[in-house]
Amino acid sequence: MEKNNESSSSCPMGKTAQEKGFLHVPECYKVQPVDRLRFDSKIADIPTIDLEGMCDNPTRRREVVEYIGNACRNSGFFQVINHGISQSILDGAISTATRFFDLPNAEKAKFMSNEVQKPVRYGTSIKDGLDKVQFWRVFLKQYANPLNDWIHLWPNNPSDYREKMGDYAVAVQKLAIEIMGTITESLGLGPTYLTTKLDDGMQVMVVNCYPKCPQAELAFGIPPHSDYSCITILLQNSADGLEICDLGDGSWKLIPVVHSSLQVNVGDYLEVLSNGRYKSVVHRVTLNSEKTRVSIASLHSLGMDVKMETPKELVDEGHPKGYKESSFNDFLVFISKINLDEGKSFLSTLKIQK
Ligand code: OGA
Ligand code: NI
Repeated sequence: MEKNNESSSSCPMGKTAQEKGFLHVPECYKVQPVDRLRFDSKIADIPTIDLEGMCDNPTRRREVVEYIGNACRNSGFFQVINHGISQSILDGAISTATRFFDLPNAEKAKFMSNEVQKPVRYGTSIKDGLDKVQFWRVFLKQYANPLNDWIHLWPNNPSDYREKMGDYAVAVQKLAIEIMGTITESLGLGPTYLTTKLDDGMQVMVVNCYPKCPQAELAFGIPPHSDYSCITILLQNSADGLEICDLGDGSWKLIPVVHSSLQVNVGDYLEVLSNGRYKSVVHRVTLNSEKTRVSIASLHSLGMDVKMETPKELVDEGHPKGYKESSFNDFLVFISKINLDEGKSFLSTLKIQK
C-alpha cells in the first residue's frame, strides 16, 4: 500500500493508481460531479436464453431465433445458458487472466502501448497519459482470430495463458458465429448471411481487470460507450459492475452475474446491418470497493477492411437507409483521432442525417 503523497494530477504511463493500491482516487481519475455514480441502478430484467438444441432441433431453433430477435430489438442485450462452452474452459480463462493481472507491473508493461493498431496491447485508459480522465481499469487487448496468426504474440506468463485463453477464444468465436446466425435469421437474411465474413473476421478479446477502488463512486471502470462489434460476448468473474442503458427510459440497469452464463450485447456494426432495428446498447462499468473484477469481452466483427453495410432487404419506405458503411479499420482510424473529436461516438459518425 502506498501513502497518499503521490502528486494528484500526473498520471505517467505505466504507473497506475489502481495498481499501486492507493487509498484515494487521484484527480486524473475523477469523473465530473454530474457524471458521478449514484449506485442506485436497478437490477436489469434481461432475457436469459437457453441455447440447448439450437443447432440440431428445428423447433428449438425457431424459438431461439424469435427470443434472440426480440432481445436484440427490445434490450440490445441478453444472456445465454447451455451455450456449449464447458465450465472448465470458462474457469480456465478467468483464472489465467486473473493471474496475468497479478503479475508484477514490469512484466505487464512489456505489452504497454498507446497504438490502437497493436494486435496485443496492455493499458489503463484509451491512450494512457493522454486522455483527460483515466479509467480505473487495466486491460489487455488481443486479436484472436485466426488464433494461429496471433497467439504467439500473446503473453506466455502465466505459463498456461496461451493454452487457457486460446481454448476460450476458439470456443467463443464459434459461439459468436452461431449466435450471429440466429440474429441474421431473425432479420430475414438467413442463418449463414455473415458466416464466412465472421469466420474470416476480427475477434478482439478485451481482458479487463477492475481493481477494487477505495472511493468507487468517484471513478469509472469504463465510462458509457457502445462496442465496435457486431456482437460482444462477455465472461465475468463473480463480481458484478456492468450496467446497461435501458433502451426504453434511458436509466442505468445493473447486470447481475449468473454463474456459467455469458452476456451478449448488440454492437455498432449490428445496428448498421439491421438498419437500426437492433440498437447498439450503451453500457458502462462501475467499481466496487471490496472485490477485484475480471471480465473478458470478445468483440466479433468482419475483416479489417471489409465494410459492414445495410442490405437492401432491410431498406424500404418505412426504413430508409440510416447508416454509412464502415470497416473495422475505419473504427481504428476514428479512435486514433478521438481526442480531436471529443464526445463523439463512432456510431454517431455513421448515422445518415435525415
Ligand atoms: C468492454 C466492456 C464490460 C465489462 O470491454 O467494452 O464494456 O463488464 N466491458 O467489463
Ligand atoms: Ni463495452
